[in-house]
Amino acid sequence: MFADRVLSGMRPTGKLHLGHYHGVLKNWVKLQHEYQCLFFVADWHALTTHYDSPNLIEHSTREMLIDWIAAGVDPSQAVLFVQSQVPEHAELHLLLSMVTPLGWLERVPTYKEQQETLSDKDLSTYGFLGYPLLQSADILIYRANMVPVGEDQVPHVEFTREIARRFNHLFGKPPGFEDRAEEAIRKLGSRRAKVYRQLRTRYLEQGDAEALSAARALLDEAQNLSLGDLERLFGYLEGGGRIILTEPEALLTPASRMPGTDGQKMSKSYDNTIGLRESPDAVIKKVRTMPTDPARVRRSDPGEPEKCPVWQLHLVYSGDESQEWVKTGCRSAGIGCLQCKQPVIDAILEEQQPMRARVEPYLKDPTLLNSIVADGCERARKLASETMRDVREAMGLGRT
Ligand code: TRP
Ligand code: SF4
Repeated sequence: MFADRVLSGMRPTGKLHLGHYHGVLKNWVKLQHEYQCLFFVADWHALTTHYDSPNLIEHSTREMLIDWIAAGVDPSQAVLFVQSQVPEHAELHLLLSMVTPLGWLERVPTYKEQQETLSDKDLSTYGFLGYPLLQSADILIYRANMVPVGEDQVPHVEFTREIARRFNHLFGKPPGFEDRAEEAIRKLGSRRAKVYRQLRTRYLEQGDAEALSAARALLDEAQNLSLGDLERLFGYLEGGGRIILTEPEALLTPASRMPGTDGQKMSKSYDNTIGLRESPDAVIKKVRTMPTDPARVRRSDPGEPEKCPVWQLHLVYSGDESQEWVKTGCRSAGIGCLQCKQPVIDAILEEQQPMRARVEPYLKDPTLLNSIVADGCERARKLASETMRDVREAMGLGRT
C-alpha cells in the first residue's frame, strides 16, 4: 500500500574510490531513476567505531556527498541527507531499544566479527552494540521497503525485519482494534466487504496466499478509505494489528570484485585504491607502476595475463577485441607492459571525466552543497516525522 521506497546509507570514514563506484554507486544511480530513493551519510554509525576521529568524520561527510554527486547520484532525483541532521533517527532508535532483546543484538554476526577485526579499538561500547538497531531506525523511519546493500549487511536488514514485526505485534493493536477494523470493513461497501471477509477467512484458515494478494488488490482499489483505515485493514488481513512499521527487503547488490592496483579487491585496507576523483596524473602514475606478471623481466619475455593484475583491470574496462590484443600480445611478447596499460589508463580517465565535470560547480561554490544537504534533510525530516507521530502514539507518548 505504500509506494516503493529505497533507502541506503554509507559511513563517512574516508575518500571513496572506484571500487565504491562499481560496487555501490552505479547501482544507486540506476535505482534513482526507478524508485523514490533516499541516500544518507551515516555519520552516527561512523562514530560507533571511529569515535576517536571526529575530524575524519566531518571531512569525509562532505567529501563523500561530493563523490556521490560525481558518480551521478542526482540531488534532483534522490533525497541526499546526513543522518545526524535528522534527529528523529535517534528518537526511534531509543524507542525501539525498549523492546529489543539484548540477545538479538549480541547474535548479529557483524558484532563479534568487527570486534575481532578492529581489535585495536575498544568496541565493547553501548553504541557499538546498538549499531544494527540504529540501522533499523534508519530504515524503518522512512518505511523503506527496499534496502540496497552488500552481502555483509543482509543480516542487518533481517534484524530490522524482526524488529518491525515485534514492534507491530506489540504496538499495532490498540484497544478496540477489532471493532475499528470491523467498522472499516463496513466502509468498503457491502459487496467489497463481503469479498474482503471471504478472502480474509480463506487466508487465515487455509493460508491461501492467492486470497491474500487478491484481498490486498481489493484494498489497493478502495479509494474512499482513510489511510488509517486502510492500514488497519491491511493488518487485519493477516490476523494482526496495524502495520505501523514496514518490513524492509534487502536488495542485494551484485558483488563486484573491482580489482585494485595489486589485483586484489580494491580496498582502503590493501592500499591499492584509485580515488573516484583522483587526478589524471596520479591515475597515470598508479597504473604505470602497477606490478605485472613477474615472468616478464625483459620486454622480450612472454607473459601470462592470468598472472597479471593489469589483466584484471582489462576485464573491467576493455572490450573483447582489446582483450584479445592483450592476450596475444602478452603471450607472444608482442606488446610491452606500458603499452598494455595504456588502454586501461585511457578507460579510467574517460570514466572519471564526467565525474570531474559534475562536481566542478560544487568545488567552485562550496555553499551549493550546503543548500542541497539542507534541502535533503528537510525532506527527510518531513517523512521521518510522519512515522514518528504514529510510533509515539502507538507507544503511549505525546498525547498530554
Ligand atoms: N551499516 C551500513 C554499512 O556499513 C551503513 C548503513 C547505516 C546503512 N544505516 C543504513 C545501509 C541503512 C543501509 C540502510 O554499509
Ligand atoms: Fe600484464 Fe599486459 Fe604486461 Fe601481460 S603485457 S604482463 S597482461 S601488463
